[in-house]
Amino acid sequence: MAAHTAVMSMSKILNPFWGGRLGHTVKCTLLLSGQVIMYEMLILQPPPAKYGGRHTVTLIPGDGIGPELLNHVREVFRFSCVPVDFEVVHVNSALESEDDINDAITAIRRNGVALKGNIETKHTMAPSVKSRNNLLRTSLDLYANVMHCQSLPGVQTRHKNIDIMIIRENTEGEYSSLEHESVTGVVESLKIITRNNSLRIADYAFRLAREKGRKRVTAVHKANIMKLGDGLFLQCCREVASDYPDITFDSMIVDNTTMQLVSNPQQFDVMVMPNLYGNVVSNVCAGLVGGPGLVPGANYGRDYAVFETATRNTGKSIAQRNIANPTAMLLASCMMLDHLKLYGYASMIRNAILTTMNETRLHTADIGGQGTTSDVVQSIMRIIQSKGPLISEL
Ligand SMILES: *[C@@H]1O[C@H](CO)[C@@H](O)[C@H](O)[C@H]1NC(C)=O
Ligand SMILES: *[C@@H]1O[C@H](CO)[C@@H](O)[C@H](O)[C@H]1NC(C)=O
Ligand SMILES: *[C@@H]1O[C@H](CO)[C@@H](O)[C@H](O)[C@H]1NC(C)=O
Repeated sequence: MAAHTAVMSMSKILNPFWGGRLGHTVKCTLLLSGQVIMYEMLILQPPPAKYGGRHTVTLIPGDGIGPELLNHVREVFRFSCVPVDFEVVHVNSALESEDDINDAITAIRRNGVALKGNIETKHTMAPSVKSRNNLLRTSLDLYANVMHCQSLPGVQTRHKNIDIMIIRENTEGEYSSLEHESVTGVVESLKIITRNNSLRIADYAFRLAREKGRKRVTAVHKANIMKLGDGLFLQCCREVASDYPDITFDSMIVDNTTMQLVSNPQQFDVMVMPNLYGNVVSNVCAGLVGGPGLVPGANYGRDYAVFETATRNTGKSIAQRNIANPTAMLLASCMMLDHLKLYGYASMIRNAILTTMNETRLHTADIGGQGTTSDVVQSIMRIIQSKGPLISEL
């Protein structure tokens, strides 16, 4: 066949903005003056705005500090005239029935996007009661958990200049909810690693790395012990890496990773890993930059996106005392605004959060201050006000 084949990636052109948000690529062919041109086109799927340019987003208050933090998000959005309406769906974690969570999932399918507090999973309930948070992520196939761990201005931490992106496989691995005790005293807990899902998450990590101009992707694993499962994950990362010659690929065993993180975190750039390691590593990283109150997290699938705090804790012990740090949830709401392409509103609120963060006197107790949740939120709104209203949205 004489036809010449060229492959080009259009992802840079179509998606110049950051948010951890990536669309999915479709392979297209084009016949151009006798040449077959094959290219990949990135399809972005933020839901279209409705009713006079406004978006509807599902809001799940969750437990612990979730409801109060989400009230602050709504307050800041109202104050900033953000064109987003919330459809509130309550999920009662005390009930064993899955009706509530199914309603929430239906609402997210309708709206495409959600912002949520963490829903408590009680250890005392029957083993058949699955984690609502997990059910939500798997039902919506939110396969990529993205956390950007960055040192923040004004926050005292042992290590400075940390800037790590953690990409966690979010739908399988140790979180497959497949456990049984067929013989009393012997529990088998299945960890599922599939080639398709490993390739999918590895590709997500490399695409994100390229789009963000990152230099290196590190796969975290324990393939020396789990030779087949983690071996497959690692092999898939290697295969995907060969499509990205511009990005360095390396791998690190999970135990060494946690040690390296607490001693020399600046060595890491983008990290990709299966589900449970992702949980552990992202909590270590959140601790490095100041704790669970500061870091936002996002869960992306092909069709839906759900935003929450990165460490997914409920903060039950500090609920309703006006002392929780609102930063992580507010930053999560900014990631959500980026996803909706409301970039102007996102950066306006994000800048106000970071400026407030730099005012040590306003810090909440978790990062060594005496400020209350409302002190921080009020400062953020004062800064937004001082910058004047956002006239035109880019
Ligand atoms: C993996 O993906 C391919 C291509 O999308 C599909 O044909 C195949 O059935 C998938 N394999 C499994 C085990 O799901
Ligand atoms: C742990 O990681 C460091 C930094 O990459 C590397 O130099 C060292 O050899 C690793 N140690 C082990 C035991 O793998
Ligand atoms: C934070 O405050 C310090 C001292 O007030 C200032 O030098 C620095 O530029 C500020 N950083 C940011 C990111 O606002």
